[in-house]
Amino acid sequence: MTLTIAVVGAGGKMGLRISNNLQRSDHTVFYCESGSAGIQRTVDAGRTVTDTETAVATADVVILSVPDIALGPVSAAVVPRVRPGTIVLTLDPAAAYANLLYQRDDVEYAVAHPCHPSVFLQRKTQAELDDTFGGIAAPQDVVAALESGNSAAIATAEQVIRLMYAPVLDVHWVTVKQLAYLEPTLVEVVACMIGDLLNDALRETVDTVGVPEPAARAMLMGHVQVALANGLRGDNPFSDACLIAMDYGRRKLIKDDWKSIFDDAELDSVLKQMLHLDHIHR
Ligand SMILES: NC(=O)c1ccc[n+]([C@@H]2O[C@H](COP(=O)([O-])OP(=O)(O)OC[C@H]3O[C@@H](n4cnc5c(N)ncnc54)[C@H](O)[C@@H]3O)[C@@H](O)[C@H]2O)c1
Repeated sequence: MTLTIAVVGAGGKMGLRISNNLQRSDHTVFYCESGSAGIQRTVDAGRTVTDTETAVATADVVILSVPDIALGPVSAAVVPRVRPGTIVLTLDPAAAYANLLYQRDDVEYAVAHPCHPSVFLQRKTQAELDDTFGGIAAPQDVVAALESGNSAAIATAEQVIRLMYAPVLDVHWVTVKQLAYLEPTLVEVVACMIGDLLNDALRETVDTVGVPEPAARAMLMGHVQVALANGLRGDNPFSDACLIAMDYGRRKLIKDDWKSIFDDAELDSVLKQMLHLDHIHR
C-alpha cells in the first residue's frame, strides 16, 4: 500500500536519519521543519520542506520527530488537523506514557523506538561495522506500541517502522508502559549510565593511577566484551577470583535498593525530570 507520510522535525537528529530511509521508498513523504537550522539541514539533504499544516492534512502516518518536551504543544498543533484514522507515531514512549499527547478518539497513537544493532550482531561488512546506531547498514530490532490493538493500523505502522529504521529484523509489540520501562529505565538509567561509568573508570585508571592509556583502553575494551558475553549470554563462567571481585564491586558501587528503579513511582520520577514536568498525569 502506498502511503502519505509526514515527518515533523525532519531536520533533527532522528528526523534526518528516518527521512534518509523514507526518501528511498515509494511512499509520498512530506518533510516538515520549523527551526532555521533544521530547515537548512533538510534542504542540504536534498529534500523540500513542506508546511506542517498542509502535510499532516493528507497524511496516513504523521511521525512526530521533535524533542520529547515539545511533544505536548506540537501534538496539540498537529493532531486536530489530521484525518480520522491517521497514525500519529512518536519515537520515544516518555510523552505518550506521561499523557502529554493531544488526544482524539479517532486517531491511532503509536510509539516505535529503535533497539540499535545488538552488541552480539555478526557483522559481515565494513558498513555494518561502522553503523553502531543502526538505520544505515547494521540490522536492528525495534520495540513498538499501539495500544488500540487495531490490526490494520499495526500493520501500517509496522510497514513504516521497518522502512524508517531499516534494516530491521524484528518489531516487538509491547504496551507503552513496558516500552517506558525499556527506555528510559533499562537502557538509559542502567545501560547508558554504566557505559558512562566505564569511561569514568578508564579516566581514573589513566589520570589518577597513571596506567598508560593504550594499555588501559585495550584491557577495558576486551573485558567489556567478555563481561557482556559471559554476563548476558553465558558464553563462559567468570573465574572464582573474578566472582569475588565482582561481589566486592557490587557492594562498593550499587545501592541495596537499586531495584526500586522498577517501581512505577520511580519511573514517574525519572520521566518528570526528563520531560521537565511537575508531575505525571496518568
Ligand atoms: N537522538 C536520538 O538518538 C534518539 C534516539 C531514539 C529516539 N529519539 C527520539 O526522537 C525524537 C526526536 O529527537 P531528536 O534527538 O531527533 O531531536 P532533535 O532536537 O535533534 O530534533 C528535533 C527537530 O524538531 C524540530 N522541531 C521542533 N518543533 C517543531 C515543530 N513544531 N514543527 C516542525 N519541526 C519542529 C527542531 O527544529 C529539530 O530540528 C524524540 O522523541 C527522541 O526521544 C531520539
